[in-house]
Amino acid sequence: MTQDPTNHDTNEENNDTLTNRQGHPVTNNQNVRTVGNRGPVTLENYDFIEKISHFDRERVPERVVHARGAGAHGYFEAYGAVGEEPISKYTRAKLFQEKGKQTPVFVRFSTVIHGNHSPETLRDPRGFAVKFYTEDGNWDLVGNNLKIFFIRDAIKFPDMIHAFKPDPITNIQDGERFFDFCSNSPESFHMVTFVYSPWGIPANHRMMQGSGVNTYKWVNSDGEAVLIKYHWEPKQGIKNLTQAEANEIQATNFNHATQDLYQAIERGDYPEWELLVQIMSDDDHPELDFDPLDDTKLWPNDKFPWKAVGKMVLNRNPEDYFTEVEQVAFGTGVLVDGLDFSDDKMLQGRTFSYSDTQRHRVGANYLQLPINAPKKRVATNQSGGQMQYKVDRAPDQNPHINYEPSVLGGLTEAKQYGKEYTPFIEGNLVRESIRRENNTQQAGETYRNFEEWERAELISNLVADLAPSDQRIQDKMIALAEEADEEYGRRLREGLANAPKGESSQKTLGNKDGDQAAAKAVQEGH
Ligand code: HEM
Repeated sequence: MTQDPTNHDTNEENNDTLTNRQGHPVTNNQNVRTVGNRGPVTLENYDFIEKISHFDRERVPERVVHARGAGAHGYFEAYGAVGEEPISKYTRAKLFQEKGKQTPVFVRFSTVIHGNHSPETLRDPRGFAVKFYTEDGNWDLVGNNLKIFFIRDAIKFPDMIHAFKPDPITNIQDGERFFDFCSNSPESFHMVTFVYSPWGIPANHRMMQGSGVNTYKWVNSDGEAVLIKYHWEPKQGIKNLTQAEANEIQATNFNHATQDLYQAIERGDYPEWELLVQIMSDDDHPELDFDPLDDTKLWPNDKFPWKAVGKMVLNRNPEDYFTEVEQVAFGTGVLVDGLDFSDDKMLQGRTFSYSDTQRHRVGANYLQLPINAPKKRVATNQSGGQMQYKVDRAPDQNPHINYEPSVLGGLTEAKQYGKEYTPFIEGNLVRESIRRENNTQQAGETYRNFEEWERAELISNLVADLAPSDQRIQDKMIALAEEADEEYGRRLREGLANAPKGESSQKTLGNKDGDQAAAKAVQEGH
């Protein structure tokens, strides 16, 4: 029998007895305490105040991008090789070395631009972020479904996201703002070509590829590095949607991708992806017509073949969405020994941004949450900050010694696993675009590699969103398409010439004229 200090009644406590967060059994969860039957309410009613004030704080800031997501647990299984070669030739990262070795993972898939609970049918890249809980600590591979990106310099990211997000006045996403940014940032044209094709609306999360997008490095035990690109290939196959198919799904279900993933795992149909890498020697490759550090470019498969290194299986749904999927925090800086950064300017900018936003979004101690903490011993001298609930202390550590170095039983530095990787870096500090920009050539190749239905979709989706835009923006987009491929440019020009002005079909991003046309149609009773 437990005495409840706020309710004078007591009850026998069972395993399912409702309590408040102080552990007090709650005897009446239907009525606040009032003076007499009709009130007023008294302020000392602790259960009520505790319940409602927690409710008032149920949300944390949503992710500034990639707010809409779904997640699952699983494992990664290493092949112990890279293609036909021993993987130790290229990396000493422990998770890859031994054939059959399993490492637990948590994956979060997402859309980029709109908020939590926005429709999952929207045209957008999809996030594909994987946290590997390795024996050496966590490794996060924070990627997308598409293999390239809109920009190649991190300083442009906030402008890009502002242009893609809803207008600051109307709060409506506007194709004109999107194309204004993209037509004035020609490096984005290859990504625009993918995003406006059916590849911009994957059918669901299980049937899409993943990619690290940025260029990373692998380091072997001799301290030698190679450049690496990561790719996830779904065993379920790849499926993308036409705009009409997406519209049809969206009319009845805006959670279809989350639902598909959750239900597949519940019925034991575990989704799988193979992890493949492309490898280049660690130099600037003057023989190529692009820079290997430029994330707007694909690495041609014939020169840099995809080599399998392992597979990932997702076999467990989260127990609680908020605890796991909402609070999980991925970052490109989270690497383990044997994996490294390249000088890719986007990657370096991203690496600051993720943990910075997570300290704001989740809090200073976000790494102590079970979903983010490594599944191995953690011993730091860091402590304090909001929501700390334990000290990262080693079992044999003298608890008085929260600094290093010391001879009094504090923590000591780890030994180096292999020869340190020490790249030589020299140069003037400059603000320059990377050379070999070559902004449209690969967009043309991608256009020609599409099947005809994909090209037709690309043109009609572009026309729908571009038609209501300022003529200068349309002209710039047509010029980029012409530079990429003569037919691509001609079809876009003709499509725009024949499009009814100011009457967007609201196919993808929407726009202010389209909204006016839609509003007019509603007023006229259509
Ligand atoms: C999420 C920044 C480029 C993939 C985020 C978040 C930020 C961010 C601030 C929210 C993180 C959070 O609240 O936990 C940036 C910056 C970029 C950039 C500054 C460019 C300089 C990219 C690129 C990719 C990417 C190129 C793809 C490779 C993702 C993914 C997420 C994400 C998948 C969601 C992670 C999750 O599920 O929690 N990004 N990003 N980002 N970003 Fe980026």
